Amino acid sequence: MLFRFEMDRSAKEKSSNLILALDFPPLEPRQLLSRSLKLLKEVHPYICAVKINHHLVLPLGLFNGTQRIVGLVHDLGLPTIMDCKVNDIGDTNRVIAEFYYNAGFDAVIANPFVGWDEGLQPVFESARRKRRGVILLVYMSHKGASEGYGQQITDPKTRKLTSQYLVFAEKALSWNADGAVVGATFPEKIEEVYAVLKERVPIYSPGVGAQGGNISAAVSAGARYLIVGRTITLSEEPANTAKLLRDTVERCAKKIV
Ligand code: XMP
Repeated sequence: MLFRFEMDRSAKEKSSNLILALDFPPLEPRQLLSRSLKLLKEVHPYICAVKINHHLVLPLGLFNGTQRIVGLVHDLGLPTIMDCKVNDIGDTNRVIAEFYYNAGFDAVIANPFVGWDEGLQPVFESARRKRRGVILLVYMSHKGASEGYGQQITDPKTRKLTSQYLVFAEKALSWNADGAVVGATFPEKIEEVYAVLKERVPIYSPGVGAQGGNISAAVSAGARYLIVGRTITLSEEPANTAKLLRDTVERCAKKIV
């Protein structure tokens, strides 16, 4: 099944649009692995996917510990996303993406700043061949995002002044990306990007909680999936926290239907 439909299926089955960012502070690899597996077993009823970052892949290795985690996530019926922000020349990008796909990841996050030709084209080709996903960064959740994603540029098509992230939103459409990342910390940007994408490319939104983003604002602006890490992974009661977040997302989504 195509990644996008796989996400739809999972969100419906779990009645959840919450994605767990499985991040922990640096720990000894064995502890990281056991904490990850334990947390997944506790919170899986409340999430629709798991996003993994370098927090795990660097200490655990891709085909050792990380692949075990990916296996458990799949056994729990959930898709996995690798937040590797692919950002190099095309040949290297293909190698990066294929390692993650071969380890079982269902999608990778990639950076449109490198462009299409000799940039992300090989990643999209590889994803289509393997029926996996590519999610594009459109506007990141941190303050400095304004310096790159928020800069004013001349639209290459219209020659009018526009914002970099709006051009990236157009690229998410024309490259047929499976998702677009816009930080929950900038709901006004989510709204603008949603106006370009509508329901054609779902918006994935990190930045809730620890980074100050608000679920209600992000969802009413058009975010489809909310990505949450530390608020859950560092919680004393992760399952309860995940359930509360899941319920909040669902309540906010119902309000706008
Ligand atoms: P917290 O703990 O802040 O974790 O809930 C958020 C997770 O998401 C990652 N992150 C991003 N990933 N684009 C991305 O692709 C972004 O704009 C972005 N902002 C945060 C962060 O690294 C962590 O894994």
